[in-house]
Amino acid sequence: MQNDATRNPAQLWLEQGRKLWGNAHKSGSCFECHGEAQSMKGVATQFPKWSRSQQQLINLEDQILICTQRSGQALKGLENPNVLALSALLHEASQGLSFRMSAAPGDELPWQDALNKGAEQFTTRAGRMNLACTHCHDLNIGKQMRADVISPAHPTGFPIFKMSWQSMGSIDRRLRACYSGVQAEVPMPGSQSLRQLELFLKVRAQGLPIDGPSLRR
Ligand code: HEC
Ligand code: HEC
Repeated sequence: MQNDATRNPAQLWLEQGRKLWGNAHKSGSCFECHGEAQSMKGVATQFPKWSRSQQQLINLEDQILICTQRSGQALKGLENPNVLALSALLHEASQGLSFRMSAAPGDELPWQDALNKGAEQFTTRAGRMNLACTHCHDLNIGKQMRADVISPAHPTGFPIFKMSWQSMGSIDRRLRACYSGVQAEVPMPGSQSLRQLELFLKVRAQGLPIDGPSLRR
């Protein structure tokens, strides 16, 4: 289904993303400052990044939200369908390229600290099931869990169109779902702990190509 453009629901989101991005004939759009969406090739491989102005990690959806404030079409919320459509478009522009996580010169210390915190969360037990991410996504890869086969949790496919959500969803939402899965306290959307985990997962997946947006059951 993912490989069949006529049946893949992600195609509708990409179409919407292209519409929002705009073109030479439509003002107030991303195009005005950035030109063709293809000029963003490679950008999705570098998020989350350390933002010097905000003194925290921001991921691609955060950057899109920041930029919609500038474009005269301000959007709110990471799971806003238009934010996800633009995220899908920007990930598509980087399909086949692998993650390239690194600190910008001068930001090494806060970046490394964020990465360490992500690694720590990955291995810290949580919730009523008292499990850490590593117990499923390192130690039980390939095993069946209810109707799912546990994957290595390499975040190459985001944003994902998930059938059970009947929607596109960001990595932020998927990570929260795993907290809820082990009956742990779920971090707030957009929280730094989720960005730190995302950074760790992408460093862990360094070298693997982006294939998002993609489909999930
Ligand atoms: C008024 C100019 C302006 C508009 C309009 C604008 N941006 Fe931006 N964008 C910027 C600037 C400046 C940056 C550099 C980073 C920063 O300051 O946030 C940026 C950075 C980005 C980046 C990161 C690029 C990189 O190399 O890391 C992305 C992705 C992005 N914008 C997406 C969008 C999207 C999506 C839209 C439309 C909703 C948009 N931008 C509209 C000015 C703009
Ligand atoms: C009890 C087992 C379990 C634990 C613990 C768990 N997950 Fe998951 N996770 C799953 C299952 C099952 C899925 C759906 C199948 C799959 O993609 O692996 C999933 C999916 C994911 C995915 C999506 C992969 C994709 O490509 O769609 C990511 C990313 C992820 N988990 C990260 C995490 C992180 C980070 C933690 C710790 C905060 C965590 N998981 C804890 C079972 C678990």
